[in-house]
Amino acid sequence: MTEAALHYAQSTVLIADPESNSRRSLNRMLLARGYQTREAVTGDQALNLLFSEPVDAVICDVAIPGTSGIEVCRQIREVSQIARLPVVLTAGVDDRKSRIESKKNGCDEYLIKPIDQTELLIRLEYLILHYEEDRRLLKSSASLKHTVDEQSELLGKAMAEIGKARRTLRQFNEEIVFRLSRAVEFRDDETGNHVQRMSRFCGLIASSLGMVTEMTDAIRIASALHDVGKIAIPDGVLHKPDKLTRAEMSVMRRHADIGHRLLTGSDSHLLELAATIALTHHERFDGEGYPRRLSGKSIPIEGRIGAVADVFDALTSVRSYKSAFSLDTALAVLEQEKGKHFDPQVVDAFVGQMEGIKNIMLVHADR
Ligand SMILES: [Fe+2]
Repeated sequence: MTEAALHYAQSTVLIADPESNSRRSLNRMLLARGYQTREAVTGDQALNLLFSEPVDAVICDVAIPGTSGIEVCRQIREVSQIARLPVVLTAGVDDRKSRIESKKNGCDEYLIKPIDQTELLIRLEYLILHYEEDRRLLKSSASLKHTVDEQSELLGKAMAEIGKARRTLRQFNEEIVFRLSRAVEFRDDETGNHVQRMSRFCGLIASSLGMVTEMTDAIRIASALHDVGKIAIPDGVLHKPDKLTRAEMSVMRRHADIGHRLLTGSDSHLLELAATIALTHHERFDGEGYPRRLSGKSIPIEGRIGAVADVFDALTSVRSYKSAFSLDTALAVLEQEKGKHFDPQVVDAFVGQMEGIKNIMLVHADR
């Protein structure tokens, strides 16, 4: 067997022809070339065979009984698994209409009997080579898709794990913030539910300013630590019922810097946000605040939000040195202090959320 014949030894050609002489002649030629062959004498037989075992090419007479050669070709092209199978149609007479119909229905070659064997073999080898290449590409494309699917699945799982780890870390950070804020509450017993209300007011303002949910939540949680620096303020100053002296006021004001020093330097976005709020919640929009006398937009937005929320809650709460202001009075103070103590935009954002304000005051009222 020659090298070429060895190559085709794996290829099977279906010969579908009602004439035994034609089948014999094609058989002899193909076997000599190293092909394997199958035979059918009707179109239906040819189709049954095609759908039941692997074939690499079909040589079919157009005038085969039963399902015609052209119909056999048409049906092959409609079945995805064998749609690109090489089909050579043969005819006893050169009929133009039949030739055009055959091409229309997808035949690769249309040869007139008696067939030129050399021409048939050249065309057949070319068609089978292309068919093999098609199938190889299809297989590697399917394999590639499978690999991509597998990698995508692995990536999806990894992303889910990262998401889970992030959620756990965020919960851990929130837990730390919550417990620290409780420590401040224990230390500063005058404030009752001040921390709860103030932090929720902050969240309300952030949301009203159009911040994304993630940032709104972060500001709400982090602002609970705005007074964490009071942990380091002596009892005599922190719990003094009377008006503070100038020196005592100076000591009290240190809580902003102390809170910042306690919280800053962490990799946690939440704790850094808390550090900024601790440092800047007593700054004033007009630059008359403390500890840095920052003004306007140079005060971080979270600090400007904290200032409004903190003062509003102080105004509407009972303190040892004053009774609680009514809601209207407190709102009037905010209006008066626009551009002085407070960022006007932040005041507007807060005042525009009256339902939310009332709800927070009701749910978290001092016991
Ligand atoms: Fe404070």
